[in-house]
Amino acid sequence: MDKGFSSEWIEKLKANNDIVTVASKYITLNKKGKTWWACCPFHFEKTPSFAINEFEQFYHCFGCNASGDVINFVQKFESLDFYDACVKLAEYAGMEVPEFHSDENLVKLKKKRERVYELLVDTARYYYNNLKTKDATPALEYLAKRKLDMNIIKEFGIGYSLGWNEVVTYLKSKGYSAEEMIDAGVAEKRNDGTLYDTYGKRLIFPIFNLYGNVVGFSGRVLEKTDFAKYKNTPQTIVFDKSKCIYGIMQLKKLKQKENIKEVVIVEGQMDVISLAKCGINNAVACMGTALTINHAKDLKRFADKVILCFDGDSAGKKATLRSIEILVNAGMNVYVVTIPNDHDPDEYVNMYGKDKWNELMDNALYWVEFLIKDFAKQYNLEKLEEKNKFISDALNVIRRLSTQAEQEIYLKMVQELSNISISVLKGDLNKSVDNEFKQEDIKSKSEDKLVLKENAFVKAVKFVLSALLHKKEYAKLNDDFRDNLLNSDYVKIYDYIKTENENGRVPIISKLFDMFDVEGSKDIFDIVNYVFVDGEDNEKYFDDCITLVVKTGITIQKDKLLSKLSTIKDLDERKQVMIELQKLIIKEKNK
Ligand code: UTP
Ligand code: MN
Repeated sequence: MDKGFSSEWIEKLKANNDIVTVASKYITLNKKGKTWWACCPFHFEKTPSFAINEFEQFYHCFGCNASGDVINFVQKFESLDFYDACVKLAEYAGMEVPEFHSDENLVKLKKKRERVYELLVDTARYYYNNLKTKDATPALEYLAKRKLDMNIIKEFGIGYSLGWNEVVTYLKSKGYSAEEMIDAGVAEKRNDGTLYDTYGKRLIFPIFNLYGNVVGFSGRVLEKTDFAKYKNTPQTIVFDKSKCIYGIMQLKKLKQKENIKEVVIVEGQMDVISLAKCGINNAVACMGTALTINHAKDLKRFADKVILCFDGDSAGKKATLRSIEILVNAGMNVYVVTIPNDHDPDEYVNMYGKDKWNELMDNALYWVEFLIKDFAKQYNLEKLEEKNKFISDALNVIRRLSTQAEQEIYLKMVQELSNISISVLKGDLNKSVDNEFKQEDIKSKSEDKLVLKENAFVKAVKFVLSALLHKKEYAKLNDDFRDNLLNSDYVKIYDYIKTENENGRVPIISKLFDMFDVEGSKDIFDIVNYVFVDGEDNEKYFDDCITLVVKTGITIQKDKLLSKLSTIKDLDERKQVMIELQKLIIKEKNK
């Protein structure tokens, strides 16, 4: 990962900034055994679960799963980006900061990005201050109509665009060029080449990122017109709709104050704002776009439980189904709330208040229950054929639950809805291939098998790599293991450990924070933060894991080739795949 400084310099910077010493500047640490403990600065807690491993020079919080090296610590604590955190640490250590030299484009991009941030915050302040001018009456009347007072307006930085040219004139007077305004998404070009305000005459909602930078805007029309109700910042170098979460800053503040039990995902920014006004600060919105894996990853840092609370119309319904898929796959506990009478959260909380809202959230349905009930609504269960479809859909969902106890709960629900006995449903649940099988089914089933196999595989890989990295005495390098890792990141970690060993050095975990975006990658994160249960049979477990990885690695490669083979028509290509297959089979036999 190119970070803009040479890796030698970063290494020196880290060597001169002992993580315990640096962290002590910010928090109170206590030593127990080999570990330093503190209450985590990144989430609210009363008993310490924030641990620093002095020898390995990294921290890990067992409460909120934050983890990182000394640079990352300062970055997070002070809400700085990587570069600025390095500058700060260089200051602590009395080191010179070299040119941000490694990549000229990176430097340019960073400068450009900073300039855009400046422009955006100036623009946001300008729009906000407009509310205090005499021309703000339409906006103030609208805000009053929506029951937003000055406190909440200030908290969310809501503002107003007076017209089509004012912001352009203002930004010009502050020295910004036309190109910069366009790049930031604040201005657009007319046919005659002059600029106009992207959000002309709209009520302005600035959008903040996790670090408190303004990254874009959403502008709402005040009266009904033919224009889109909301106009959002287009894609810019600092704004990407698929990654942005409205309300993420409020969520971060909340997390520092208290433990967040659950995050509520709503559709619009007005929902987030009205909820906050009523003292509910755990809601965020995806700004009229589909939820993505990026959103899921970011939210997972705040809580494991999410409640989806989208509008009741068909678009909201579709969004709910898609979001369940993404969030469940991201390993979150997903719940769904349907607000009565097609209200949106903004309307509901304004009408009924905080207590009623909390009641609604307490009654959220677990995603499995939501889907089963939804299937039951879609099908006419009086008709035999539709009833069968209902059961098949419901069982497909139940199959995804990992424990039998969980499966049992929802089988009961299906039984009640369909009047088919549990034992019959169970039989169907465990049937591997339907009588009336379709190609599609077989394909998805064999892929499921692959996923299952991969789960055990990944678990074993993580254990072995962690044991090697944490220098467990039973952990020995094994190149057969390496050759079946099937993933370049795993191989990279293995090779790092091996190189260090060969050069008579000890691998250092915090080095991985330079090689990877540890928090962004669950796999790497798990390896760094592996929790070992110390027992006598660790040595045997280690050997078993190696064997499993090698065997499964070969099988997975074989399965993948086989399924590839079934799709290839080109004869030469088929031959090539067959040869590879043969090689694998021989390898398998020799194991
Ligand atoms: P809604 O149409 O549900 O609006 O769109 P809302 O949140 O209820 O807003 P109010 O109460 O009418 O003011 C939900 C979200 O979809 C995005 C916006 O982010 C909005 O908050 N959206 C909507 C757009 O991006 N463009 C549009 O034209 C409409
Ligand atoms: Mn609304």
